[in-house]
Amino acid sequence: MSGRLKIALTKGRLQDKSVALFEQMGLDCAPVKEPGRRLIHQLPNYPLDVVLAKAPDVITYVEHGVCDLGVVGKDTVLEKGGSFYEVLDLGFGRCRFALAVKVGSDFYGTYKTRRIASKYPEVTRAFFEKKGMDVEIIKIEGSVELAPILGLADGIVDIVETGATLRENGLEPIEDVAQVSARLIVNTASMKLYKREILEFIGRCQQTLDSRK
Ligand code: PRP
Repeated sequence: MSGRLKIALTKGRLQDKSVALFEQMGLDCAPVKEPGRRLIHQLPNYPLDVVLAKAPDVITYVEHGVCDLGVVGKDTVLEKGGSFYEVLDLGFGRCRFALAVKVGSDFYGTYKTRRIASKYPEVTRAFFEKKGMDVEIIKIEGSVELAPILGLADGIVDIVETGATLRENGLEPIEDVAQVSARLIVNTASMKLYKREILEFIGRCQQTLDSRK
């Protein structure tokens, strides 16, 4: 490890909020804020290297131990699973998974197998399995709201933040599936090997989050 921990941050929506948290913890994040084409950034005043990655890759890097820590949404944790410690709810990136249908449609009022479109087939499968309901799941890569509009599916399981996307497309949430927020995850071997350094980092995160309450 050469005395430095490595953390993978989810690019995009969670990135700025992760950086804001680290700055509040006293970490100088200037290199991450001006990344250019570099993919790994050394923080100048803390023994931490930051890697920016897509959400599922954050989990892959942490699971394989090439990154000791990761910041990733609970949505990706639920969908991809894996073997790592989920040590902190970071409190930002809050949204929820919901089952949504066309406004006014009677989703439960038929015996035929319902078709559900989702970018999250595993979350969808687990939700309906818990209900004991047999559904056909269709994996969609983006703008899943299109599926019921085009007649491909009876409903969708998707992330809802403000609800605007559903509203503007004539859809409504009918049931919550799970709550989502950003999580700090840790590689299981790193936790043993670099316990002192990792616990000190988690402690600083926790202290800063507590000061926000
Ligand atoms: C997510 C989600 C919805 C939208 C919900 O998509 O899939 O489409 O955000 O947000 P709202 O409730 O505030 O309208 P995202 O923007 O991540 O894009 P994607 O469809 O490419 O995944």
